[in-house]
Amino acid sequence: MRLKLSEIEVEDRFRKVVSGIDELALSIQKFGLFHPIVVEKRAERFYLVAGYRRLEAHRLLKLEDIEVKLKEQLSEIERREIELEENIQRQELSWDEVCDAKRELDTIKRRVYGSAVFSPDEGWGIKDTAQSLKESTALVKRDIMISRALEVMPELRKCKTKAEALKMLRLEKNKFVREQLVREAEARIKPEEELVQVIYGDCISVMKEMESESFDLCISDPPFGKELDSMVRASESLVQSYKDPKERMFFLYKESIPQIARLLKLNSHFYQFFPIGEDYGWYLEELRKSFEFVDPIPLVWIKSRGGYTVDARWRYHPRYQPIFFCSKGRRQLKMGLENGNVLEIGSVTQKEHVAEAPVELFKLIIDQSSIIGERVLDPFCGSGNSLVACKEMRRRGVGIEIERDNVSLIKSRIWRGGEEG
Ligand SMILES: C[S@@+](CC[C@H](N)C(=O)[O-])C[C@H]1O[C@@H](n2cnc3c(N)ncnc32)[C@H](O)[C@@H]1O
Repeated sequence: MRLKLSEIEVEDRFRKVVSGIDELALSIQKFGLFHPIVVEKRAERFYLVAGYRRLEAHRLLKLEDIEVKLKEQLSEIERREIELEENIQRQELSWDEVCDAKRELDTIKRRVYGSAVFSPDEGWGIKDTAQSLKESTALVKRDIMISRALEVMPELRKCKTKAEALKMLRLEKNKFVREQLVREAEARIKPEEELVQVIYGDCISVMKEMESESFDLCISDPPFGKELDSMVRASESLVQSYKDPKERMFFLYKESIPQIARLLKLNSHFYQFFPIGEDYGWYLEELRKSFEFVDPIPLVWIKSRGGYTVDARWRYHPRYQPIFFCSKGRRQLKMGLENGNVLEIGSVTQKEHVAEAPVELFKLIIDQSSIIGERVLDPFCGSGNSLVACKEMRRRGVGIEIERDNVSLIKSRIWRGGEEG
């Protein structure tokens, strides 16, 4: 049946923003109207129920009449039901309106037919809403979930697409879960608990005695085999106690990595410092033998000064420290999408240990890969800066160091004021 445009009355509209009328008008001009609009006859007057955009497109084209599907004596709920169903299917809504419309339709149907709470045979359920829209239950369920989220996070409506909103929602959810975990962990730490511990000894034998899956994060910075005795840049007194032949370095990597992998819990991170050079592939392969994920693109810690032993008159001085990032299982980084693999943190200026890395660097890594109360292992503890970072960030830290002088240095740093641990 056809009605004159002037005869059709439009009540309060469901649509918040009406867009794309021009395109629709062009398509109607070219191909005609595929789906008639829905109109209700009440007291000899005609009211639009669904198809506002199609009606507007006809007006734009200055057409006189339009094909309509006529309904009579609809209840308020039936009217809304038809409008929602039509709008969703004709894609006349933006992504957030579609989600809201599906949720409203689901609520209306449950009100009309009775909600299926315990069994699907009992009444209307999400499956029925999905069937009425000819969509999968999973999709409808997800859209309804998004609509609920939009209520508490209205800023999600600013996302251009549903995919973008879902991504944002997931990030928020992770943040929430993380905050919850931190609160729980915080509650478990006793105020008098000593959070960090240093063990004097060879980490290979010490680690062999430790319980499997007892750490949440490990940061390992073994000696680099740079034969620092012959190094010209470091001061004499620091170099004396730092014997560092290359064969020893290979041995330490080979022996320590499988132990670290054993000691880490499932779903944890490992950071391996290494000297970049011709042996890059060897380090990568050693890590791959023990870890499910080893990022072949290492993190780069840019040092503000120093760098290791080359004669910089003839080649460039390596002013960055590469660090392999590995995972046992899967664990998310804290930073989410803002992640970057270049860490710009100034080197330590007044070194007391020849290879000490700044506390800030450890703090950044610890923050990314652990929460309060979790256990962090540093098998080659050196100056103890990793433990200082653990203490400041309320992580339980365990450091191992083979040189007695370094152990004293570590203790003086983590127990400033002289109390022993
Ligand atoms: C590159 S430094 C670590 C520096 C440390 N990341 C820092 O920021 O101070 C390596 C340290 O490992 C220690 N070390 C060497 N072999 C070891 C072993 N088998 N067990 C424990 N520590 C060892 C060295 O004495 C040295 O202090």
